[in-house]
Amino acid sequence: MSSFWQKLNKPSTFFQNGKSDVKSEVFALGEAGGHNFWKVLGKPIFCLAPMEEVTDFAFREMFARYSGHHPVSLREPPLLSKEGNAPQLSQNDTRRSPPIIGGVPRAAGGGGNSFVMYTEFINVDGLTHPEGRKNLAIDLKYSEIQRPIVAQIWGNSPAKFEEAAKIIVDLGFDGIDINMGCPQDKEIGIGACAALIREPKLAQEIISATKKAAGFLPVSVKTRLGYSKTDEMGDWVRNLLETNIAALTLHARTKQEKSKAPAHWEAIKEAVEIRDEMFPMNPHPSPSPRGRGKEVGLRPLIIGNGDIKSRQEGLERVAQTGCDGVMIGRGAFGNPWLFLADDYHPGLNERFRAMLEHAKLFQDTLGEHKSFFIMRKQFKTYCSGFNGAHELRAKLLNAKDLEEAEDIVLGYLERY
Ligand SMILES: Cc1cc2nc3c(=O)[nH]c(=O)nc-3n(C[C@H](O)[C@H](O)[C@H](O)COP(=O)(O)O)c2cc1C
Repeated sequence: MSSFWQKLNKPSTFFQNGKSDVKSEVFALGEAGGHNFWKVLGKPIFCLAPMEEVTDFAFREMFARYSGHHPVSLREPPLLSKEGNAPQLSQNDTRRSPPIIGGVPRAAGGGGNSFVMYTEFINVDGLTHPEGRKNLAIDLKYSEIQRPIVAQIWGNSPAKFEEAAKIIVDLGFDGIDINMGCPQDKEIGIGACAALIREPKLAQEIISATKKAAGFLPVSVKTRLGYSKTDEMGDWVRNLLETNIAALTLHARTKQEKSKAPAHWEAIKEAVEIRDEMFPMNPHPSPSPRGRGKEVGLRPLIIGNGDIKSRQEGLERVAQTGCDGVMIGRGAFGNPWLFLADDYHPGLNERFRAMLEHAKLFQDTLGEHKSFFIMRKQFKTYCSGFNGAHELRAKLLNAKDLEEAEDIVLGYLERY
């Protein structure tokens, strides 16, 4: 059995009977913020949105490589097996590539650049089931250069969230995010994700159960403004902030709006005001090593999300609303350079190289577990805005593997 499976299948070393052991207590009591990576990131904070069948290991690795990412983690490196292998599925992963780790605060715009990455959403019932876990394990794959890496989970049973959180802690993630925003019928039908907006008490119980097992790991929530009306936002946000989560990401639409209406960014400003009212800033901040003399603050961060296309646009949204950071989803398609300090527009050859590198990463690290069809959908996101792009996209969409995709790109370059 691989070290990954041994690790997934053995009981957590940090927790017994739902209580953190002495070791994790020490972590939790460490410094202001303990192992809360959110507190050492320079502001504004940028996040790469969790996206099912998009932000897999290969996609995130491209961002870590191309967006000038400085990995940050306040955790100890995950436990290694006797052979020195990290708990991964594949021999080809880059988990042991030389990272820059260690909780060094880096201010965005000050030369450093650290953004937060998330897994695709993972169902807690599957994760806590011995069989289901085997299928989901590939979605929990990450590398050291992807830190801070947050596992996003969804479901509707507090007990399952607690169990799932223990597994995530044990797998070495930097944080846990709870999905309370997905509007799809399947998830809504079982009372999960955005359905929780109509179950505020259950939502709080889920957060408490997750926090209990998360120990020193920060727990965050990603949700929407409301179920059917934007004016549900106030009560819903208060309900969530009462639980003192580390961060709240607000996709500025309601569940009913799905992705149709333009994002309501004015509501993000209101959410920031609610947070400020519930958690006023200390007017006399005490010096602290992590905050470099500034207030560190343990109040929940507000991350705005919706329709942002570029880093520059993200900065404008932060200035407009006062939120602590922004999350970008669809704007990241085909653009692993997205978070570079200056918006960057690569030439065509560079774009093709990155696209094929992405496909190779996919094939090498996920190919055994996921269909190449998932990667094929990504080709089109790299191919737009140039002569012959339409024809190239159509051909790439039929490529059966990496080799065929490479031949198609070479054919294109010979013709143009
Ligand atoms: C293909 C796709 C898959 C998504 N999967 C998830 C998911 O797994 N978890 C989640 O919280 N949100 C998911 N979302 C929502 C995004 O994280 C984000 O909130 C939404 O796309 C709005 O941001 P944007 O306008 O920057 O794309 C998904 C969105 C897309 C387009």
